[in-house]
Amino acid sequence: MSTSDTGVQAVSACEDVSVLDEAVDKSKFKSCSQLSFYRRQKRLLPGKSLYRALLDSFTLHNGIAKLQIIHEETKVPLLIEIYGIEGNILRLRINELSPLKPRYEVPDVLVTEPALHRLTVIQEEADVVVLGYDEGDHKVHITASPFQIDVLFKEDVVLRINSLGLLYFEHLQPPPKKSRDQSEEKSDVPAISSEDGEEDLGLWKEKFGSFVDYKASGPSSVGLDFSLHGYEHVYGLPERTEPLQLQSTSDSNAYRLYNLDVFGYELQSKMGLYGSVPLLLAHKPEQTIGIFWLNASETLVELSTKPVFIETTTDMTKKRVVPETDIRWISESGIMDAFLLMGPSPFDVFRQYTQLTGSQSLPPLFSLGYHQCRWNYEDEEDVKAVDDGFDEHDIPYDVIWLDIEHTEGKRYFTWDKEKFPSPKKMQESLQSKKRKLVIISDPHIKIDPEYPLYSQAKEGGYFVKDRQSKDFVGVCWPGSSCYLDFTSPEVRKWYSAQFTFSSYRGSTDILFVWNDMNEPSVFKGPELTMPKDNVHCGGWEHRDLHNLYGFYQQMASAEGLIQRSGGIERPFVLTRSFFAGSQRYGAVWTGDNNSEWGYLKISIPMLLTISIAGISFCGADVGGFIGNPDPELLVRWYQAGAYQPFFRGHATMDSKRREPWLFGADNTQIIREVIRERYALLPYWYLLFYRAHVSAEPVMRPLWVDFPQQLETFGIEDQYMVGNALLVHPVTDPEVISVDVLLPRSDEIWYNFRTFERFVGLSTLKVPVTLDSIPVFQRGGTVIPLKTIVGKSTEWMKGISYELRVALDSKRSATGELYTDDGHSFQYLHEDHFLYRRFTFHKNILSSSCADEKGRYSTECVIERILILGLRKQPASVTTIEPGRRHQKVTFAYNPRTSVLTVEKLSLGLGADWKMHVA
Ligand code: NOJ
Repeated sequence: MSTSDTGVQAVSACEDVSVLDEAVDKSKFKSCSQLSFYRRQKRLLPGKSLYRALLDSFTLHNGIAKLQIIHEETKVPLLIEIYGIEGNILRLRINELSPLKPRYEVPDVLVTEPALHRLTVIQEEADVVVLGYDEGDHKVHITASPFQIDVLFKEDVVLRINSLGLLYFEHLQPPPKKSRDQSEEKSDVPAISSEDGEEDLGLWKEKFGSFVDYKASGPSSVGLDFSLHGYEHVYGLPERTEPLQLQSTSDSNAYRLYNLDVFGYELQSKMGLYGSVPLLLAHKPEQTIGIFWLNASETLVELSTKPVFIETTTDMTKKRVVPETDIRWISESGIMDAFLLMGPSPFDVFRQYTQLTGSQSLPPLFSLGYHQCRWNYEDEEDVKAVDDGFDEHDIPYDVIWLDIEHTEGKRYFTWDKEKFPSPKKMQESLQSKKRKLVIISDPHIKIDPEYPLYSQAKEGGYFVKDRQSKDFVGVCWPGSSCYLDFTSPEVRKWYSAQFTFSSYRGSTDILFVWNDMNEPSVFKGPELTMPKDNVHCGGWEHRDLHNLYGFYQQMASAEGLIQRSGGIERPFVLTRSFFAGSQRYGAVWTGDNNSEWGYLKISIPMLLTISIAGISFCGADVGGFIGNPDPELLVRWYQAGAYQPFFRGHATMDSKRREPWLFGADNTQIIREVIRERYALLPYWYLLFYRAHVSAEPVMRPLWVDFPQQLETFGIEDQYMVGNALLVHPVTDPEVISVDVLLPRSDEIWYNFRTFERFVGLSTLKVPVTLDSIPVFQRGGTVIPLKTIVGKSTEWMKGISYELRVALDSKRSATGELYTDDGHSFQYLHEDHFLYRRFTFHKNILSSSCADEKGRYSTECVIERILILGLRKQPASVTTIEPGRRHQKVTFAYNPRTSVLTVEKLSLGLGADWKMHVA
């Protein structure tokens, strides 16, 4: 890669971070024991808490309970606030009663100030206060000494807070006046011992390698324990490469939530990756709950599951063993702000979390198609050749992507004049094929006074500052760069405005955005990111909000695209770094994976974990970013990717070209087939995204979500549900001839999606596979909408008619839905221009009815074909009953071997209430 054009002392990024080495250089990243706040907190061992509640201070105003607690030794008072929130949520905030200066409270993640469900006092005694609701089964017990909070449901304890006594709060102190040694003496926390070669620098400085972190506020960490009674199955805390079910942590191997650029990240690791969502879910057959820890600083989570003995209520002499999971949250700064999502069902928890942080934005339809990316498509000819290649090989796709090399020396919002002399023409050509372009826009801005983006930002004071209030300079792709301070509303406004057509020369309305390197990645920085002592707008240290940086860039980009269209069009923005709430702004992907089977396999639990943390629109680089997949791996990856929400092939610059037709005719055919299957299923994907948008249902989800009572599903991570109707088990091992697929529940019927073969559930099925097969099953009782013909892109397929695939359950019934709108604008929201239909098969009648009367989108599209799977008997006749028309006997075909009824050449209005009678 050439950086000679940068004009400054640029360091080649490749040289700098050895990006061409495949293994992670772990010496660049900290282990838990190298984090001084973690080590300090770890000195507090489980036991009797030194905090005592001052129940005299207890007040209840407007349904919000407040009280003070005090540390027996330091005597520093903390303020506790407990809120009931509508929808079965409790919120617990703990802050200093009178901090020396304000502590960071995460802004912009909660969509609104949550509506209160007023708590009342049920009981007040010398050592205990009990809170509850006038209506509702939850109670909150506050015990004064030692301070503890228990949350009960119908008199049973669901969770205990501070029962292990691990409440830890470093109150802000004035900076040490004299020498370092004196400051240590005065501190109420013992001096840090040297570990792993780290120098002991006291509480106001910390060293990692050659990096010194100066802590403007001194030690300021917070921590708290929660014991979840009866729970042993725990999930969440993306992003990481571990099993779906969270594991008990050992000392110094906690789950780390710290957004980092980890090229070719390791498998089975708890280390921080590009994005973090501090949400943990716990599930047992009777109840699912969640803990959302709203803190954007570096956070570690420890977990341990153990059996506890409890007395049975009927016979006090007998003991019962139940599992309990203890969770300890430790954050470097900020306050404690925990939301307890009380379920009780998995979908209730998703709704509760979405109520707080917002739902998945409804993507433009094109973005659910296939995306073709590479670092880099070299020039306009290359783009044209690849675009034509899809047509020549009859493979649908929607978007071609341009990586950093398309710019003038990594100056975002510009074009390399030699390689991309006519960007508008290039886009017009794509548009003529009803396709789109995505370009990359990273947060670092090349230092070049001639570069308008740089000079404007410099003048406006829009860059993140170092601790001496100078613009922070770091190294990234363009060499020396400054980093936009997206936490500032003014900077976001300015950045959004860069996307207007007049500012962004050569852009058109088919151009969409990719935000990369936004952890942020700083090649020469500590752990390849920004120093924690950098300063953001409002004077906040980077340490306070590190995990929010990427969230804000995506917010500004999405806003920019919306503004560019005058508020009319839905944006598409992919981000690498994310936080709670990122679902509101677009899609995420799992960064720089390797072209190896292990990475294909881990992509499933990685994506499931991201999905259940609210971000439905997620995917992994198909084929693996680093390296060269052999044809078998590539084919298997396409098959998996076609059944995952964000579907993009991507490859690094030194990998061989891998457009889908470069691996021989047979493999091209298999890839073509599965991409076409994705396109045929687009109506179903679109419906699922609508449901994620309006009802908070994850599009891709672990089996236990749909089968919450089925213990055998709780640990499954090699198969998953796409919506409630499809069970997918991608093949993630080489040379296999069969895979074991678990089909849950004995009362369920499942149908092989391609052959329609019928199976009864509660069996582990050995499904034979050849290279061209991916095991996918439709659940009996569901109706899936499909398109009857696949075209070159989603937009090509707009007017294509629909098929309904009705899969009968054991009661010979099925229901399903279809959602449609114009596929790109906000009119579905502002003008109710949408159509939401429900299909029900019951007592041999399939009926179409309206699922939302508000919808008033009209379309000429019809339902042309209906397949009914699992019809055990050949019908005598099939009759359609349409409004204002005579009942009509229609021709049909019945296959007794597969028990499938096929009715074709129908013309049933999409928005009409019709029936089809199978007699
Ligand atoms: C890192 C990203 O993860 C990768 O997808 C991209 O191709 C490179 N940066 C270059 O922009």
